[in-house]
Amino acid sequence: MSTQTISEWVAVGRLHDIPSRGARCVTIGDLTIAIFRTADDRLFALEDKCPHKAGPLSQGMVHDGCVTCPMHGWVISLETGEATGADVGRTTSYPVRLDGDRVLLAVGMN
Ligand code: FES
Repeated sequence: MSTQTISEWVAVGRLHDIPSRGARCVTIGDLTIAIFRTADDRLFALEDKCPHKAGPLSQGMVHDGCVTCPMHGWVISLETGEATGADVGRTTSYPVRLDGDRVLLAVGMN
């Protein structure tokens, strides 16, 4: 059995730092996490690495709760990190939330 606990919430910036329908990257240790902001101001956090060939998802187009990878066009669910359609793969997703306009990111530890 494996359990995942949230180690800490880390303040990584303000909502207005993230462009609408875009992303901003934060680096924690050797991990780069892209925080995406949808048109309706929902936030999602994924490792900035496409499950196909590690393309930078942060540079993709955000639409319909997904991001389209700029490399070869895979469409990745922002909520789950799963590839959609016929493609198979998953990138790691992380909890992210707002506290006022502060963006808080949680990085879990096993
Ligand atoms: S690296 Fe993302 S679609 Fe190929």
